[in-house]
Amino acid sequence: MAAVAYVNGKICRQQDALISVFDHGFLYGEGVYEVARTYHRVPFLMDRHLRRLRNSARMIGLPVPMSDAEIQRAVQETIDAYDRQPDAERTDHELYIRVLVTRGLGELNYDPDVCVPSVVIIVKPNPQPDPAVHERGVSLAIVSMIRNHPGSVSPLMKSNNLLNNAMAMQEAMRKGAYEGLMRNYRGELAECASSNIFVVKDGALRTPPLQAGILPGITREFLLEIAPLLGVPAAEATLRDDDLFGADEAFLSITTRELVPVVAVDGRTIGTGRPGPITRMLSEHFHRRAMEAIGMPGHH
Ligand code: PDD
Repeated sequence: MAAVAYVNGKICRQQDALISVFDHGFLYGEGVYEVARTYHRVPFLMDRHLRRLRNSARMIGLPVPMSDAEIQRAVQETIDAYDRQPDAERTDHELYIRVLVTRGLGELNYDPDVCVPSVVIIVKPNPQPDPAVHERGVSLAIVSMIRNHPGSVSPLMKSNNLLNNAMAMQEAMRKGAYEGLMRNYRGELAECASSNIFVVKDGALRTPPLQAGILPGITREFLLEIAPLLGVPAAEATLRDDDLFGADEAFLSITTRELVPVVAVDGRTIGTGRPGPITRMLSEHFHRRAMEAIGMPGHH
């Protein structure tokens, strides 16, 4: 089904969702965004996504022209408009929510003072992956593109300036991989083009620290909180290639897909080459906690 979008206060259908070519989001990639999702039409961890959005905006000196409550209301209105579409044949799928704030309309120069920020919210079906993704796991390619230096466009913010990530993903796709894993400028493992990476070794979970130069993933953060409650020690740790190749299990974390088992990297098998028991257990519990968080315990 087609997407519905909120564009600067107006909700419209996908084909009418337009932004000026003079918007600095288009001209310079000057903007920030979030990707959230629903479970049973309830946006999940929206408060955390809005906190990260505000932090990203602050890092590029971008004023967000709406309060959190106003954004939440606009998200809800966009979801409602999506569900009211005449061709709304299915409502059992989950929704993908993208919130963007750009520097907005300005001159053909970098002067932010004359710009009027744009706010866009896109609601569309959350794409359902092939079941094999979760059942059999995926393969990664370690790509030559390195993750942004923290002193450059900082990986800590979710910026619309995504050329690095797009090129990392293109390289991975050329190699037939599901995701492209980037190292940082020091050669340590950082994260994938659009997901965080975790390894399991001797029953414990490890993931690169924020200082490695990564996006503070919301799924990553939630997982680091729940894993110890499930008896799985979890820590941030510098990871190198050998930590990944020698891991018992590995997986990705991402809002739209939760946990995705990784079974091969650069053609080399990780662990047994099948999704591991701790990955499966955490996946199951992650979903259960998500249901509890939206007030639907026991619902799958
Ligand atoms: N991607 N790292 C990067 C570079 C990302 O772009 C994302 C999310 C993540 C995972 O973060 P989270 O758990 O908050 O989704 C890690 C989103 C979904 C995207 O850009 O489409």
